[in-house]
Amino acid sequence: MTFDPLKPQIKTIINQTTASTNERLLSICSLLEQQIPHYNWVGFYFKNGDKNELKLGPYVGAPTDHTIIPFGKGICGQVAVSNKNFVVPDVSAQDNYIACSINVKAEIVIPLFVNGENIGQIDIDSNTADPFTAEDERFLEFVCEEVAMMLA
Ligand code: SME
Repeated sequence: MTFDPLKPQIKTIINQTTASTNERLLSICSLLEQQIPHYNWVGFYFKNGDKNELKLGPYVGAPTDHTIIPFGKGICGQVAVSNKNFVVPDVSAQDNYIACSINVKAEIVIPLFVNGENIGQIDIDSNTADPFTAEDERFLEFVCEEVAMMLA
């Protein structure tokens, strides 16, 4: 699918300076979950102060018990350490994976850098097997860059 029409909508949300940061992040999660059929859970995790753990931020989708994830644990915790995109076509094939829902078949996590520092990530779960392409990665990198500008 083409993600280009969503890019100006992301910018519009980022530029809503009367809304709080968390309100804008939640709006981005809603937009992505509603407009992209293979995005079924969309959320942000951020480094929790000076601890080596991630804390769940705004999200849309089923509530998760995993509001704190230690660095290195699960797909999210691995991205906190690797600083690299992690695309998982089949979550059942992963040893270091934290299951949130039995419906989830695939996951993509893209790190978010502010001034070169990995301060968090966008995490997307899909109920469709192997749905993510390089276009998802490029689009989500765009989303993370826009969010980084808002947070900087
Ligand atoms: N599956 C993630 C945990 C977060 S949930 O997807 C919301 C992981 O393995 O890190």
